[in-house]
Amino acid sequence: MSNIEQTLSIIKPDAVERNLQDDIKKMFTDNGFSIKDEKKIQISKTEAEEFYKVHQSKPFYNDLCSYLSSGPIVVMKLEKDNAIIANRKLMGATDPLKADNGTIRKKYGISIDKNSVHGSDSVENAKIEIDFFFNS
Ligand code: CMP
Repeated sequence: MSNIEQTLSIIKPDAVERNLQDDIKKMFTDNGFSIKDEKKIQISKTEAEEFYKVHQSKPFYNDLCSYLSSGPIVVMKLEKDNAIIANRKLMGATDPLKADNGTIRKKYGISIDKNSVHGSDSVENAKIEIDFFFNS
């Protein structure tokens, strides 16, 4: 039975800075994702703090929010059967050093901070994150 879902993907500043957005988008489309909406933007630190508020108690929160707001990003609404888990699999582990071969973070990630992409981690967060960028 099919289970079409939408998930949010962000191509982070380290990847946009290296002009990798077309290569990363191709990895998504080659893996069966449709890009239903996308935009290239730069967000403020306050917006990054709101977006990543689930991490606000973490020691890396401040650096994470500074980083996400440090340069242009590409945000995409992706759709596919079981999109949330499929996106997490295609991204690979948060730390590029631990990511499997063939994943986006293994191929392009520089470090745990500059790991090239973000993806929603649950159905509930996917809806919140898509609304954050596309329905506000
Ligand atoms: P992302 O999937 O965007 O979600 C939160 C981000 O925090 C994560 O990717 C990493 O880039 C960043 N981060 C920095 N340090 C850590 C850490 N120790 N554990 C998890 N995420 C971290």
